[in-house]
Amino acid sequence: MVIFGASGDLTRRKLMPALIKIHNGKRFPEHFAIIGCARTAYTDETYRAYLKEELIKFGFLTKEEMETLDDFLSTVHYQSMDPADETTYFLLNDRLKELSPQYENNGNYLFYLATPPLLYELIPKCLHDAGLLKKPGLKRIIVEKPFGYDLASAQKLNKIYAAYFKEEDIYRIDHFLGKETVQNIMVTRFGSTIYEPIWNRNYIDYVEITAVENMGIGTRGGYYDGAGALRDMVQNHLMQLLAITAMEPPAKFDKNGFRNEVIKVYQSLRPLTDKYIRDNVIRGQYIAGDDRIGYREEKNVRPDSRTDTYVAMCLYVDNWRWQGVPFYIRTGKQMPTKVTEIVVHFKPAPMQMFQMKEGFYKGEELIIRIQPDEGILQRIAMKEPGAGFYMGTMEMDFSYDQHDQETGMRMYACWKTVWWVILHFLPVPMLWTRAGLTLIRFWIIGRSIPKLLFMGILQEHGDRKKRMY
Ligand code: BG6
Repeated sequence: MVIFGASGDLTRRKLMPALIKIHNGKRFPEHFAIIGCARTAYTDETYRAYLKEELIKFGFLTKEEMETLDDFLSTVHYQSMDPADETTYFLLNDRLKELSPQYENNGNYLFYLATPPLLYELIPKCLHDAGLLKKPGLKRIIVEKPFGYDLASAQKLNKIYAAYFKEEDIYRIDHFLGKETVQNIMVTRFGSTIYEPIWNRNYIDYVEITAVENMGIGTRGGYYDGAGALRDMVQNHLMQLLAITAMEPPAKFDKNGFRNEVIKVYQSLRPLTDKYIRDNVIRGQYIAGDDRIGYREEKNVRPDSRTDTYVAMCLYVDNWRWQGVPFYIRTGKQMPTKVTEIVVHFKPAPMQMFQMKEGFYKGEELIIRIQPDEGILQRIAMKEPGAGFYMGTMEMDFSYDQHDQETGMRMYACWKTVWWVILHFLPVPMLWTRAGLTLIRFWIIGRSIPKLLFMGILQEHGDRKKRMY
């Protein structure tokens, strides 16, 4: 495995800890080795020492992983080169030739791009020109998001990848798909007889999909200011969650079956006309408050930026199963809390025979907690204990914390799904650009969120519901 961007944050904080887990679970192929590539001038020994120090410093490793750390690091090598400079790729080629007999890998290489997106176009071409994609052996590539900025750049990027790799050898990462609770949605839906019969417009009132964070954009201003919450979170992670929640059961649980059903969901999304966007999509940006700086003061952000750090919207999947069921999507930085969850709200019983002590009964809920405290919670109607006959709710709660877990199976986004989603959301930034400052709401961190944005469109839904029931 060749990692470009080996001295960066992603490699030391996410990739290496994940690779150690795979190594300890003995899930590497027999002749597996890692070569890190970056501009910093490490040798194998100094790179291993650097990784060791960083991994210990972060404190992510378990006791067992600490004990096997040296064993893992002995499979790690380093080649100093500049991934942005095509003339340095021969160094990598020479190094791979030198190491290949030792590992007997038959020319099988997996290239991992843990680099800034700017290099995504260049690296495949350089690999090809330096002869690194020559047969024999499998050549695969893993690329982080964002896969393109807009439709034109995504198409261009895809053309480049398709020229050098087969589609099945291109792995476009969506790390939400690797989360245990996200993968579990399919088992809860398609492996259980309890939910599937009621998983439709007859029993489900609406669905909320939320991924909010209580921090800003950190040091990623350069990337984020061009992306915004819509591209950073909605067009990939949240749309994957929506697809898994809304898809039909595939005839067979394999990559083609899964992909076809995901695409059908995207094809059924109600088109985003200008009027629809104005009525159903909210864009916001945080400004300084609670001792925290505003978005426009973040490093590498334009001082007059109109980039969305918060997006909330209501989407409809216009097919037989979901006709008329709203899906409320929201994501944002600098929110009061960090939580990612899907809440499925079931319709109340047709006749309200029992009263609540206070308020009105909203119906049962299934809460899929993706993080933190991964698990699943079902709220169901129950008699309030004690005198009288009042209705209340009881919670059945399952937490993944109580179970030992191995790293979950990875799932990747195929080009067709990436393309459909980008295409679907295209009208939104176009309208926002035309609308200037009129379609953006600024809010002070720690204040005014509930009223202006956080509940936003949901508030209207609640009012409508109160009138209905
Ligand atoms: C990334 C986004 O893909 O996902 C980040 O670029 C976001 O902006 C992150 O913070 C959230 O991931 P997680 O797993 O921490 O919820």
